[in-house]
Amino acid sequence: MKSLLGVIPAMAVLAWALPSSAAPDGATLYSRCAACHTKTGAGVPGAFPPLGADFRNLATKPDGRRYLSLAIVRGLSGPMTVEGKAYRGVMPAQMLDDAATAAVLNHVGTQIAKTGPGFKLFSAKEVEGHRSSGTSLSAGDVAKLHAQVGGK
Ligand code: HEC
Repeated sequence: MKSLLGVIPAMAVLAWALPSSAAPDGATLYSRCAACHTKTGAGVPGAFPPLGADFRNLATKPDGRRYLSLAIVRGLSGPMTVEGKAYRGVMPAQMLDDAATAAVLNHVGTQIAKTGPGFKLFSAKEVEGHRSSGTSLSAGDVAKLHAQVGGK
């Protein structure tokens, strides 16, 4: 009995440690985005913007990449125009850590917005930098960044 009691906490630690040691899977994480942006990323005009041409364009520029990271980390709220259509919605902050944020942005970049071979992958370190530069920004502030960084 005594030896068995020693084994139980060890198993609990193992069960806790195993999933967190695996790299986050962008495709699995994207399923939460698909609830709004749809499975293909086409979005719903006027409600949920597409993850396509605007994402591809923003991902090529440092300040655009900061905006994309902060959209996930801080959320978005307020008016913006994406691919010529107006949105005045709310995207809740996604509560993902740096590695998971990078993984889901990379899934969008490669599989959803299909940015092509020129797409520069996001690293957890890059997201960490964007996150720490944006701690004072509200979701409304991040939505205002969209036009400032050349989103359209
Ligand atoms: C509850 C619905 C919802 C969920 C879930 C959601 N979004 Fe959004 N997303 C929105 C809305 C609404 C906007 C537009 C916000 C506005 O109008 O200010 C938006 C905007 C964006 C933008 C900015 C698009 C652009 O061209 O500037 C990106 C990028 C984005 N979402 C990515 C994601 C990713 C990646 C996920 C999953 C990790 C996700 N979203 C989850 C609703 C959602």
